[in-house]
Amino acid sequence: MYVCLCQGVTDGQIRDAIYEGCCSYREVRETLGVASQCGKCACLAKQVVRETLGDLHSSQAVLAYPAAI
Ligand code: FES
Repeated sequence: MYVCLCQGVTDGQIRDAIYEGCCSYREVRETLGVASQCGKCACLAKQVVRETLGDLHSSQAVLAYPAAI
C-alpha cells in the first residue's frame, strides 16, 4: 500500500527501513523522503513506524526472554 504518493513510498518500504536500522519516524523520513513534500502522509507514515517498532520490540522481547512464553 502506498503511504506517500509524492515520493512513491509504500508501507513495506517503511518497514524495511526500520528492519534495516531506522529507529524513529525522523530517521525513516530522512532515509525514504516520506512526508517531505505535501506532508499529507505524515500521520499514516508515523502510524506505520509506530506499529513496526512495536512489533519489532515485542519480537525482540520474545527472543530475549524465550522462557517467558
Ligand atoms: S503524500 Fe507524502 S509528501 Fe505528499
